[in-house]
Amino acid sequence: MSRAVDSPRVVNIADLRLMAERRLPRAVFDYIDGGADAEFTLRENCRVFEDVILRPRNAVAIPQCDLHVTVLGKRLDLPFLLAPVGSSRMFYPRGEEAAARAAGAAGTAYILSTLSGCRLEDVKAASRGPVWYQLYLVGGRDVASATIARARTAGYSALAVTIDTAVSGLRERDVRNGTKELLGSSITSKLPFLRQFLMRPRWLAGFLRDGGLMSFPNVMLPGRGPMPYADVAAALEQSTVSWADLRWIREAWKGPIVIKGVLTGDDARRAVDEGAEAIVVSNHGGRQLDGVSATLRALPEVVGAVNGRIEVLLDGGIRRGSDIVKALCLGARAVLCGRAYAYGLGAGGEAGVTRAIQILRADLVRTLRLLGCSSVAELDRSYVEAPVAWLIDAPSRASVSGR
Ligand SMILES: Cc1cc2nc3c(=O)[nH]c(=O)nc-3n(C[C@H](O)[C@H](O)[C@H](O)COP(=O)(O)O)c2cc1C
Repeated sequence: MSRAVDSPRVVNIADLRLMAERRLPRAVFDYIDGGADAEFTLRENCRVFEDVILRPRNAVAIPQCDLHVTVLGKRLDLPFLLAPVGSSRMFYPRGEEAAARAAGAAGTAYILSTLSGCRLEDVKAASRGPVWYQLYLVGGRDVASATIARARTAGYSALAVTIDTAVSGLRERDVRNGTKELLGSSITSKLPFLRQFLMRPRWLAGFLRDGGLMSFPNVMLPGRGPMPYADVAAALEQSTVSWADLRWIREAWKGPIVIKGVLTGDDARRAVDEGAEAIVVSNHGGRQLDGVSATLRALPEVVGAVNGRIEVLLDGGIRRGSDIVKALCLGARAVLCGRAYAYGLGAGGEAGVTRAIQILRADLVRTLRLLGCSSVAELDRSYVEAPVAWLIDAPSRASVSGR
């Protein structure tokens, strides 16, 4: 498979997206690719990188580039982590293990979604890098507490608590495609998908080999076992996380907590006050509240509000290494990539994820060398020109340094 995703067939992330579209049934591809409502925020997340202009220092020789960052006290060889992407096992057999293995081999971290199809112990064992657990309170507090204890025992190094899913966003493509029925627990609910499944024989063979009907083995419902796929939207609605929950979550977890889904300075300050070690500026990849700010646009306000007290990460719209550079210049310590690797997983499993990481790494090195900068630690505002309106309340250079 690795040859299939090599250059020149796959030169950039957009090529992996096309390959995923060809390999996956429509409903599965749209589940990855789509966003909420009119998909304004989804598009804006990517487009906004065009508003930031790079300012190179030319005639500077950069023989080597240092891409490493320290996140929550752990050294990562790359300034990006793999974001939690639910239901990855639909994209490729044992998808979460494949992605975690690729992340670990590249020297970076993988974040496992609560809504994953592989057991958290198996995912941890698959990676030689750090693995974080992303928490939803589906199933309620007792169910979540039991999973937190499992994650701690298995050696997960951070807990990412997602705060932007009070209800599930309306992903119109999923409604039209009948994705809920596709993910339902009965064979008969899948019958309408038979035609699109048969048109994707390679995917279908893998899906059946991997068990076909799936559930969430990290959400163990008392007396019922793993939560079935079909129950997700209702379960999310009944389990909104609130700031008050952070107290018992902290007691139960005892390790570093990362708040994922911050878009304003106010929420960032609240996360600091509640004792979070890091936040992720995120709008869930445009899958939740449509019409919110693109994350890069929100970053300077959040970095200013945090003022160096905790670590600020960002996700949303990262498709090229230069996007990562721009986010770091505007004060992110590192970024998370979601679709960039999910397309790779859908296109070719572990080899596809490895290729996505390789593309972003090569982009980063080339961008740094062309910028005249030898390490990501040196990136700061002086390497970019961003719209003035973004930089009101901007932090000083000192508060974004120290990567
Ligand atoms: C298919 C898919 C499933 C996702 N599932 C989760 C999830 O289970 N938990 C979560 O916190 N975020 C989830 N996200 C959001 C990502 O973690 C991340 O915030 C987003 O993908 C970043 O935007 P990008 O895809 O443009 O990189 C999901 C995103 C996608 C595309």
